[in-house]
Amino acid sequence: MSLFQPQKLGALTLSNRIVMAPLGRARGTPASREPTALVAQYYVQRASAGLIVSEATHVSADTVSRRGTTAIHTEGQVAAWRKVTDAVHEAGGRIVQQLFHLGRKADPALLPTGAWPLAPSAIAARAEFATPQGPKPFPVPRALEHDDIARIVEAFGLAAANARRAGFDGVEIHGANGYLIDQFLRDGSNLRHDRYGGDVEGRARFLLEVVEAVTPHWGADRVGVRLSPHPHPDGTQDAAPRRLYRYVAERLAARDLAYLHLVEPATIAPADRIAPVVRQAFAGPLILCGGFDKASGESALAEGRADLIAFGAGFIANPDLVERLRRDAPWNAPDPSTFYSGGAAGYVDYPVLAPVAEAVS
Ligand SMILES: Cc1cc2nc3c(=O)[nH]c(=O)nc-3n(C[C@H](O)[C@H](O)[C@H](O)COP(=O)(O)O)c2cc1C
Repeated sequence: MSLFQPQKLGALTLSNRIVMAPLGRARGTPASREPTALVAQYYVQRASAGLIVSEATHVSADTVSRRGTTAIHTEGQVAAWRKVTDAVHEAGGRIVQQLFHLGRKADPALLPTGAWPLAPSAIAARAEFATPQGPKPFPVPRALEHDDIARIVEAFGLAAANARRAGFDGVEIHGANGYLIDQFLRDGSNLRHDRYGGDVEGRARFLLEVVEAVTPHWGADRVGVRLSPHPHPDGTQDAAPRRLYRYVAERLAARDLAYLHLVEPATIAPADRIAPVVRQAFAGPLILCGGFDKASGESALAEGRADLIAFGAGFIANPDLVERLRRDAPWNAPDPSTFYSGGAAGYVDYPVLAPVAEAVS
C-alpha cells in the first residue's frame, strides 16, 4: 500500500492517497469574506494532492472570527469560490469544501449587531483569541435555544447547496478542533439536559442533524466528516472518548458517508489511539491527520490503520509536497508568522523543487 496509489472516496476516484488538510489562511476579502485570486493561485499550486480539503469556511453571518477567513452564504462568495474550484479542476485537482460554525469561539466584536457567540452551554472556551487589538479571553457564550439550533442546522444545509453551486467536488463537515459541532459532541463543553445533551446519543444529535441537512444536496457519497477525539487546549474534551467516537462512527457508517477524517497526532501512543475504534465502527475510507511524514504515513497505510493521509503544515510550506514525498526530498519549514498575515508572502511563495533533469541519451 502506497501514498501514490489511487483511492476511491465515495463518488470520487483520487489519483493518490495524499490529502491536503484543511488550513485556514485568512487571505479572503475582510468585509465580504470571499476568496481572492491569490487564494485560487494557492490551491492550484497544491492541486497535485489526491484531494484538497478547503480551509474551514463559515456557513452563516453569525460565525465570524479573524479578518480574512472566508464564508459560503452569499452569492458573491459562491461566485468567488467558483473561480477557485474552476482553477483547481483545470489544474487536475479535486477539492471539497470544509464547512464550519465557530460557536463559542466567535469574536463578539465582529458579529452582526445584537448577536452574541452561541454554544451548547454557557461555558467560555479556555485561553484567548487573536484580535487586531491583541489577544482577548473568549467570552461566555449564550446557550443555544432550540430555534437557534434549527436555524444553524439549516445554515449548514444552505452552505452545502452553495458549495455545490460553487463547483466543489463535495463537502467536509467540520466536527473537530473545538468548534460548534465539537462543542456539542463532548461533555466538557456540552452540559445540556435536553435532547441535544446528556449521553452520547444526545450530544451527537446536532452533528447528525447537520449531516441530514447537508446530504440531500450532495448525496452521502460526497460528504465527509472531520473529528478530533483528543482533548483540545480550549477545554473541548470528553470523559469517555472511546464510547463517544464509537457511537458517532457507527451512526455515520449507517449513513454511508464518503469518508471520515480523524485528527490523531502520530505521537499518540498506540494504547491511547482512538482511530482503531473508529476504524472498526466505520467501514468506509478513513483519513488520518496529525504530524505525519512519508514513513509514518506509509506505515499507517501498510498496517491498514488508514486509507489516506492528510498533511497540514507540510502543504503550507511545500506546494509540491506530493513530488517531494515521491522523491524523498526534504521539506521546506513553514513560517508561523505568515499563517494568518494576509498577502502573498508565506502563502504562494514557498519554493518548489527543480525539475528532475531529463536523461540525456
Ligand atoms: C495555519 C493552520 C490552519 C488550520 N486551519 C484548519 C482548518 O481550517 N480546519 C481544520 O479542520 N483544521 C485546521 N488546521 C489543522 C490542520 O488541518 C491539521 O489537523 C494540523 O495542522 C495537524 O496536521 P499536520 O501535523 O500535518 O500539520 C489548521 C492548522 C494550521 C497550522
